[in-house]
Amino acid sequence: MDVITLKNYEQLSKKAARILAGKIELKPNSVLCLPTGGTPLGMYSRLVDYYEKENISFNKITSFNLDEYIGIKPEHPGSFNKYMYKNLFNHIDIKEGNIYIPNGNAEDLKKECIQYEKDISKAGGIDLLVMGIGENGHLAFLEPGDSIPAWTSVVKLSEHTRIANSSEFENIDLVPKKAITVGIKTILSAKEIILLASGKNKAWAVEKMIKENITPQIPATFLKLHDRATILLDKAAADKI
Ligand code: PGA
Repeated sequence: MDVITLKNYEQLSKKAARILAGKIELKPNSVLCLPTGGTPLGMYSRLVDYYEKENISFNKITSFNLDEYIGIKPEHPGSFNKYMYKNLFNHIDIKEGNIYIPNGNAEDLKKECIQYEKDISKAGGIDLLVMGIGENGHLAFLEPGDSIPAWTSVVKLSEHTRIANSSEFENIDLVPKKAITVGIKTILSAKEIILLASGKNKAWAVEKMIKENITPQIPATFLKLHDRATILLDKAAADKI
């Protein structure tokens, strides 16, 4: 794992956007795997800027999302579908047919997970996967536990994650209890990974990710198995390392 500490959230967002844009310039038909959450918002707003002001085109990219809730409509303000369109897809020239987000309303969720992996393979595999880290050390919706799923799966969300993600829901009881998430092998199969962490509340998880041996209790420790994983931190998130 390469660890890069930036001065602040602004610099972190700029660096992440530059890496992504660089990848797209180098390989215009890149297959990306993208996150939701508070952390990547600065990166997305810069990417929109690059599209508007620097002529970077997303016309040939394919985008997969890391995860999606089960049981809420795509137009729900808390859905990751809504988030992606609001913060990125509505503002760039990505082709609708190249957008993949797990369907948390599929009749057969198991089939949906299998199809998601097939779609990733059919697209040629993920060139660059970007993600955040949970305060509890989760990656995507792969929660700490005795084991973590290898490939895209239906998972139960921890109380910790449901509370951390509750801002778009009227109350905690309305935050879905389950989600579809890519698996740890889906993540590790990406050719390149960038993990973003910002703020003091991530310092514990960042410390564990870097210092602990690989354990499903801290899913982020699995990134040690990847030889092209870059961890971008701001100073607050790097506080304990
Ligand atoms: P956040 O989420 O960017 O909203 O902190 C990160 C994550 O839970 O993976």
